[in-house]
Amino acid sequence: MARAQGDGIVVLQSALIEAHHVPVPNANPGEENVATRIELNVNGKMQKIEAEPDMPLLYALRNDLGMNDPHFGCGLAQCGACTVLLNGNAVRSCALPVRAVGAGKVTTLTGIGTPEKPHKVQAAFIEEQVPQCGYCLNGWIMTTVALLDKNPRPTDSQIRDALTGLKCRCGTHVSILRAVKRAAQA
Ligand code: FES
Ligand code: FES
Repeated sequence: MARAQGDGIVVLQSALIEAHHVPVPNANPGEENVATRIELNVNGKMQKIEAEPDMPLLYALRNDLGMNDPHFGCGLAQCGACTVLLNGNAVRSCALPVRAVGAGKVTTLTGIGTPEKPHKVQAAFIEEQVPQCGYCLNGWIMTTVALLDKNPRPTDSQIRDALTGLKCRCGTHVSILRAVKRAAQA
């Protein structure tokens, strides 16, 4: 049994690694997608990388800049684990080519608060003891930050609308809802 579980983990890891390296189709077939120098404004700091313009922003953040706060989940814009803010809007960085970022301001989970001074949304998720495995939480927190910046007192249905499409395999949805409401009242 233990061996079967171990094998499963290896298969899962391989699948994630392979998915990570799936080439991204050139969104502009008429243009060459060759590595070029790209500047990104991440958490208020200008960062230079060499990358193909169609490479997803998530790869730039995790592989080129060594950040581990946006997570690789589905790689298909369907789970939200990779969410970052682009000019204050929640975007799925696994599906956003770096060329589309331009001079935009990218903010990640580590850019909104610190363990010593967490953002009110981070604090609310801690106070409500939301995390189980924690893998998905980047998406819920960053999407909530974007929501409350635009709508500080959302209704329940506005919260549900904003968070639609985010996935949590651990089933923490009820406590997430409590945390979002707590943050809205902070
Ligand atoms: S990893 Fe980007 S939405 Fe799932
Ligand atoms: S806390 Fe585990 S996937 Fe959400």
